[in-house]
Amino acid sequence: MSAEIFEKVNKVLKEVELASPKTKEEIEQFRIKYLGSKNTIKPLFGEIRHIANEDKGRFGQLVNSVKKAAEDKFQQLQASLEAAAEQSSSQGIDTSAPGETLALGARHPISVVMNQIIDIFTKIGFTVAEDREIEDDWHNFGAMNTPEDHPARDMQDTFYLQNSAEMLLRTHTSSVQARVMNQTKPPIRIIAPGRVYRNETISARAHCQFHQVEGLYIDENVSFADLKQTLLYFAQEMYGADTKIRLRPSYFPFTEPSAEVDISCFVCNGVGCNICKYTNWVEILGCGMVDPQVLENCGIDSEKYTGFAFGMGIERQAMLKYRINDIRLLFENDIRFLNQFKAAF
Ligand code: PHE
Repeated sequence: MSAEIFEKVNKVLKEVELASPKTKEEIEQFRIKYLGSKNTIKPLFGEIRHIANEDKGRFGQLVNSVKKAAEDKFQQLQASLEAAAEQSSSQGIDTSAPGETLALGARHPISVVMNQIIDIFTKIGFTVAEDREIEDDWHNFGAMNTPEDHPARDMQDTFYLQNSAEMLLRTHTSSVQARVMNQTKPPIRIIAPGRVYRNETISARAHCQFHQVEGLYIDENVSFADLKQTLLYFAQEMYGADTKIRLRPSYFPFTEPSAEVDISCFVCNGVGCNICKYTNWVEILGCGMVDPQVLENCGIDSEKYTGFAFGMGIERQAMLKYRINDIRLLFENDIRFLNQFKAAF
């Protein structure tokens, strides 16, 4: 009789030891079975009355060890369940899920055109010069032969800094030319790309901020023919090998003589269209021979050196190239507009 009961208890002990519940539900089943209020171990204690007196102590220990084994196992199972939950929530990664696609950006058309212009001029030995956008009056106007009472200042409506007659937002990157001439001895061969500001009413054709690339070449014996050839090279690189240029006399305070440069219309090739307004010519830049007074203002000997300069608006080139009919589109950063330039770089 005793032996049978011992065997029964040992069987339960084996069961407990071998049990391997894994899921939360299985572990709960284990708890109910061995530790719940109607668990299967409890009635084993009652069997003690069938055990011979000399075996009662050993039997009691055995049943207790079954209870202890069930308690320990449950604790272990629960701890490992919690650890697993913690790990999966911290990783939370489904390695089989498809990756998120990275949206590919596009360069802004102004950067595209600016880089193109820079490339064209660096190929023939110009280097890029950059400087500040908040300038003093002298570098923007004074050095450029445009003293305070000069009527030419009306050509470039200026944003002055508050309470200052001296500091302004540069109206052209000629200010960079002044800085380079002041700091460097000829030969000088630079282009100055950058943002400029003018107090203009914003419309489809004008904005209060835009970008320019200006160029400056100073050396001994630089002539108007060099200027013309450089601009022809630029126009043909930029707008196609058949492009012609036309120079019209103009006026700038810092160049003498001065000219506006037109290119033959690359849209209609002479047939007439609304880009060239049926003239077959499109204006792209201003230029001229650097006025000797400007050289002297910047500490360069005008007896020894001559030079040419030119300046162009990037927005205008971008608008011509991509047939953009409203300059404001270039500053709104509307993703639907910008996405159209993904193919350009
Ligand atoms: N600085 C002139 C402008 O902003 C452009 C220019 C540069 C003209 C150099 C002639 C020579 O309009």
